[in-house]
Amino acid sequence: MRFLALKISVGIILVFWLVMLVKPELLAPAPPSSESGEALIGGSFTLTDHQGKPFTEAKLKGHYSLIYFGFTHCPDICPTTLLVIKNALDNMGKDADIVQPILISLDPERDTPESMAQYVSNFHPRLVGLTGTPEQIKRVADAYKVYYSRVEQPESAMGYLVDHSGFVFLMGKNGEYITHFPHTVAEQTLADTLRRTINR
Ligand code: NI
Repeated sequence: MRFLALKISVGIILVFWLVMLVKPELLAPAPPSSESGEALIGGSFTLTDHQGKPFTEAKLKGHYSLIYFGFTHCPDICPTTLLVIKNALDNMGKDADIVQPILISLDPERDTPESMAQYVSNFHPRLVGLTGTPEQIKRVADAYKVYYSRVEQPESAMGYLVDHSGFVFLMGKNGEYITHFPHTVAEQTLADTLRRTINR
């Protein structure tokens, strides 16, 4: 009997080793990927909008979304990019009605719903500002493969800045990823791409 038990445990170890060798992804979860093998961008999240209401990925459905990650204390890149988004949408006229612009904060400690409300009103009447707990923000940033990192500024009254990637994501009517733009995108390029996507 002991010999049989030994044979069984050796067998289990052998099978485990073979699986590891041939299909290691069976034992460790692989990152989500699309059929083309490209990493997926987007997914589920739970945040709070600038009116203090819950906002999840379900609210991306039924319209296109233009999603930018930034923070209200950003000295230059965020305000410039949000202005480009505003101008592109203005340029599109009625076509822009089906595009929802969204700003997701990467500075949840300072960006309360109230400060987001004040900030977004500077840029576009329909811009939705989202914030959350540090964990919720980490989760959504990871889902969109957005990098961010706190940089201490001991000399400045602001205390710290947030270094972050500056992509503008275009998501489709089912919340699916379509494309993204660098923060340096021209207003005209953004407006043209949006129009083409909407009218295809
Ligand atoms: Ni910024």
